[in-house]
Amino acid sequence: MDLTTSYLGLELKNPFVVGASPFCHNLTLCRELADAGASALVMNSLFEEQIGAEQELSQSSGHPAKPSYPPKAEYPEYTDYHLNPEHYLRQLKRLREMLDIPIITSLNGRHVGGWVSYAQRMEDAGASAIELNLYQLPADPSVPGDEIEADMLEVVRTVSSAVKIPVAVKLSPFHSSLAHFAARLSENGAAGITLFNRLHQPDFDLTKMEKVAHLRLSESTDLLMRLRWLSIISPDFPGSIACSGGVHHPADVAKALLAGADVVQLVSSLLKHGPVRISELHNGLEVWMQSAKIKSLDEIRGKMSAKRAVSPAEEERADYLRILQAWRV
Ligand SMILES: Cc1cc2nc3c(=O)[nH]c(=O)nc-3n(C[C@H](O)[C@H](O)[C@H](O)COP(=O)(O)O)c2cc1C
Repeated sequence: MDLTTSYLGLELKNPFVVGASPFCHNLTLCRELADAGASALVMNSLFEEQIGAEQELSQSSGHPAKPSYPPKAEYPEYTDYHLNPEHYLRQLKRLREMLDIPIITSLNGRHVGGWVSYAQRMEDAGASAIELNLYQLPADPSVPGDEIEADMLEVVRTVSSAVKIPVAVKLSPFHSSLAHFAARLSENGAAGITLFNRLHQPDFDLTKMEKVAHLRLSESTDLLMRLRWLSIISPDFPGSIACSGGVHHPADVAKALLAGADVVQLVSSLLKHGPVRISELHNGLEVWMQSAKIKSLDEIRGKMSAKRAVSPAEEERADYLRILQAWRV
């Protein structure tokens, strides 16, 4: 059975990629993930704010107790980050030496600036590709969406023209015309997209009357939004597509591939079950393929994409009307 897949020009032995997460802080765990069958690892992100803080520190002649960057909110202290930029590059080199699978680094920021020079340093340190995470919450009512997207495209252009390795962009689902924006990303140098970032969603504590920031691990239901957009974008998108979010069971993997993903990125399921989950997903996918008489991923990739529909938007609206009308009380 052939589980090989091509992602960002990398030939991977299977579609199981460890998504950006704290796993790469721990070399032993990374070894276990590779031994369990991971075909590539995405390191945790190096943040624009973190790089800015380091650059500020290195430019100051004295020894400031605390860098003033960034100025407007309570960001982590420079020393709170698990890996500072230099440690990050050293960790990347160690992972490259220790493992024989591609290591993808993650750069996380919003504005064009000095931090993008880290893309070159990642390439020099042996990254096989870079995932660019443009995480932001557009909340200023005076800034139109096209201005925000133009800035994002500029970051993508700047980073992808600075390196020879492929650059993938990790996207949020909240764009007014996501399929169009994906095409623009490709025109501006993105070799692939990762669908999706999981945006942090704070809750309220009603006793303390405070906002509560917490990180919820995903469930399979989080996959549904990915399936919809994978199936809409994959038929026309010229680059690679990773599905990130809600992949927990072999059926989730099969669905993501059928919708058009080249790989699935796993984080929550590995945090819940440990590295062994990769071999369980691998075996489960093979069992399903065997029972469906499928010999390779190429046979199924994109088979359930929206290309089958005359118009995905019309079909979606028709489904929507039908399910609402079918409800009886
Ligand atoms: C503890 C934790 C840390 C994460 N760190 C990063 C990160 O540094 N950069 C990033 O792009 N995504 C990060 N993510 C998001 C994941 O890469 C992934 O997109 C998301 O968790 C959805 O996948 P999942 O459903 O398999 O968890 C993190 C997620 C978790 C749970």
